[in-house]
Amino acid sequence: MQCLITGAAGFIGSHLCERLLAAGARVIGIDCFTDFYPRQIKERNLATVRTHSAFTLHEANLLEAPLPSLLRNVEVVFHLAAQAGVRTSWGREFATYTNCNILATQRLLEACRDRRLRRVVVASSSSVYGDCDELPLREESPLRPVSPYGITKLATEHLASLYASKFTVPVVSLRYFTVYGPRQRPDMAFSRFLQRLARDEPLEIYGDGTQTRDFTYIDDIIDATVRSAERGLAGAVYNIGGGSRVSLNEAIETLTAQLKKAPHLLHQAPQVGDMRHTFADITKAQAELQYTPRVPLAEGLRRQVEWFLLSSGG
Ligand SMILES: NC(=O)c1ccc[n+]([C@@H]2O[C@H](COP(=O)([O-])OP(=O)(O)OC[C@H]3O[C@@H](n4cnc5c(N)ncnc54)[C@H](O)[C@@H]3O)[C@@H](O)[C@H]2O)c1
Repeated sequence: MQCLITGAAGFIGSHLCERLLAAGARVIGIDCFTDFYPRQIKERNLATVRTHSAFTLHEANLLEAPLPSLLRNVEVVFHLAAQAGVRTSWGREFATYTNCNILATQRLLEACRDRRLRRVVVASSSSVYGDCDELPLREESPLRPVSPYGITKLATEHLASLYASKFTVPVVSLRYFTVYGPRQRPDMAFSRFLQRLARDEPLEIYGDGTQTRDFTYIDDIIDATVRSAERGLAGAVYNIGGGSRVSLNEAIETLTAQLKKAPHLLHQAPQVGDMRHTFADITKAQAELQYTPRVPLAEGLRRQVEWFLLSSGG
């Protein structure tokens, strides 16, 4: 199988490259190494796959990349490239979000028209829900994003379903819920906490820490992503969560226990755009993708801590 993975140098994209190469696929990666976090980190993400003979990296922005030639002989597209991050999506930065998340997706979907593709898997986000009174969140729950980032991911989903219905592009959208594990993006909570704990600095908590998240371990996310390319229904949307709901305070306790450190917590005002709670109903993914999350938070955090200590020389 030949696949195209956009955002291949990122946290999730690089893990997906590894999984597909291990399964015998040929992988073309596209990434333009946006400056959201340092290139050096993304190069490290790619270190293993760059040595693989079935892997090619095309360094280009999706807004300009020669997509028709890159898509030649491709059977499955995994579209993970995006400007991620909720808090930085306000103000002038919104232009980056519209470029990377909406315009880039539209250009890719146009290029996917009239091709014999098996699937186009598009990464969406739990951020499309916003604050919803009813938990767990079902795919049919109201979609009222509370951040500009969430709005761009919702636009991505709408574009995907439009290209599925009008041009039979076999798109499947996956709403990922807070992904963690080795190589987690440096702006994300566990990564930031680990960096601060290593320097014995206080942990900044936005709000009182009772907000809850459905944390999903990276291997489970990759599992669901690969399954969606095999079994996902064209035009469908699936929640991909980790199967449990944990408060930030509980997660910090688990993380610091792994490091045997007593953290000093610095409470700050809640951030505009952060959702209060996320918790996925994954019944649909279980039934249609046969997806089951396997890595509980304590084990996943243990692996992330182990990776962090090894990679930081700690
Ligand atoms: N990490 C999470 O918890 C999470 C949760 C929900 C959804 N998602 C979604 O999953 C996907 C991957 O997230 P991630 O955490 O791996 O992010 P990441 O920032 O690590 O990876 C994204 C990659 O896309 C590349 N990119 C961005 N715009 C591009 C463009 N126009 N052309 C080419 N390359 C471009 C970046 O350089 C980066 O390497 C994103 O679509 C994100 O919105 C992630």
